[in-house]
Amino acid sequence: RIAVVDFGSQYGHLIARRVRELGVVAEPLPPTASRAEIDLREVRGIILSGGPDSVFAPEAPTLSEELYAAGVPVLGICYGAQVMVRQLGGEVAGTSEGGEYGRSGLRGRAGVRSDLYPSGVTDEEVWMSHNDTITAIPPGFRVTALSWGNHIAIAEDSTRRLYAVQFHPEVVHSAHGRQLIRRFVLDLCGCDPSPDGPAFLGDMSNAVKSAVGSERVICALSGGVDSAVTAALLHRAVPGQVTHALVDNGFLRSGEVEQVVTHFRDWLGQEVTVIDASERFLEQIRGVADPEVKRERIGACFVREFEELADRIGASILAQGTIFPDRVESGIGGSAVIKTHHNVGGLPAEMGMRLLEPLRDLYKDEVRSLAAMLGVPQPIIGRHPFPGPGLAVHIIGEVTRAKVAVLRTADAVFIEELRRAGLYDNVWQAFGVLLPARTDGAAGGRSTSRHCLALRAVTGSDAMTADWARLPYALLERISLRITSEVPEIDRVVLDVTQKPPGTIGWE
Ligand code: XMP
Repeated sequence: RIAVVDFGSQYGHLIARRVRELGVVAEPLPPTASRAEIDLREVRGIILSGGPDSVFAPEAPTLSEELYAAGVPVLGICYGAQVMVRQLGGEVAGTSEGGEYGRSGLRGRAGVRSDLYPSGVTDEEVWMSHNDTITAIPPGFRVTALSWGNHIAIAEDSTRRLYAVQFHPEVVHSAHGRQLIRRFVLDLCGCDPSPDGPAFLGDMSNAVKSAVGSERVICALSGGVDSAVTAALLHRAVPGQVTHALVDNGFLRSGEVEQVVTHFRDWLGQEVTVIDASERFLEQIRGVADPEVKRERIGACFVREFEELADRIGASILAQGTIFPDRVESGIGGSAVIKTHHNVGGLPAEMGMRLLEPLRDLYKDEVRSLAAMLGVPQPIIGRHPFPGPGLAVHIIGEVTRAKVAVLRTADAVFIEELRRAGLYDNVWQAFGVLLPARTDGAAGGRSTSRHCLALRAVTGSDAMTADWARLPYALLERISLRITSEVPEIDRVVLDVTQKPPGTIGWE
């Protein structure tokens, strides 16, 4: 496995992802970790990420110096490269011309051998994002490539196996970035790749096993792929210690509870404990229009239900399928809060249970591959993401029982028509949004003033960015006609054509 030190870069998590793509486990390591805290039988190398700080900032993080001499290769990227160079006796300076951002390139140096590029550094495009620059390398290092702007782009010390690269090999715009990471991880660190995943999976289930020990766990199910994979991992790692539970918060989609129960019975042979808490959830958010407050109350309500169950069955751990984008949007790791996902920022500060989130560093598409390896049924793997607070955050403003019923029916028509048109799997996520506006209509020759429904359908691959789905007009017409005739409370249907960014997928 490879330890990844994240200095707070927006690309930090991408490095871990690139490592995992090689079939190698990426383990997050805090910059302050000492040598004694790392199991050097397991960790074969360390990668230092970029970061938003300048190395000259007063609180700029650095690495425990003893780790450079731990005997495993270290690759420093951007800020990580500058930290390494400074700590080992080289120099970094602010540039008067304002650094290098975006597209740049490498120039190899004739006659200078590179460990990272064994067949020689070629002139190739790489992506840069730095203001300060390395001006002098530490003793034992040699410069193996310059940037197009003539700054030091790569410096290497073959004896100590320390590598400093100023550009970002982890982003897709760096031409041979992935090969560089592959070379470092597989050849220079000697990690064993397991492209088909068993080692990766085995590792995850070992991690779950040691985190759980002999305790009893509640696995929170939502019907989606993230919680199903979490359930499958637990089932594999600690069978007999898990209670799979679905809290019906009253904001689930049509038919959802029955589907979850049936899938789990057929697939894992497990009974799901269903807790009907719909009245309690609705009561908690009565009169609440602010989405952040809704999420917080819903998050707290979920935890309360799970705590009660835990008391009844003697469980001490709550496992949930939180994934990386849930945490990024909730502002974990220094990024700005976009919206606090109910299962992250929406959790109460004091909880009577320990949280276990085995997928917290993965993206949805990675979870889906893992799901396939674990034999998760296809309808769950392919199911669109749906927020835990469910219909409650697809009803803009105050939520009432009547509005939930209206939206549930309209939303089901939308999804049914999408499936019928064979387009369900082509879109990332689709749902209806009930707007607080009352709009004028003229049903049956009479003037009406009813609800307005927005159709939201997006394409994408990881929820970090999304485009609005170009659904055929004929399909949109069918959906609009069916909704306005089958759901009498709705007399207007509109289409959301916003990308993310600047919008988000959900409306609140
Ligand atoms: P946005 O709307 O921020 O959503 O573009 C990104 C993805 O996250 C889902 N989402 C949530 N999931 N709890 C969840 O479990 C939440 O509070 C929450 N809010 C948004 C959303 O459906 C989309 O897939």
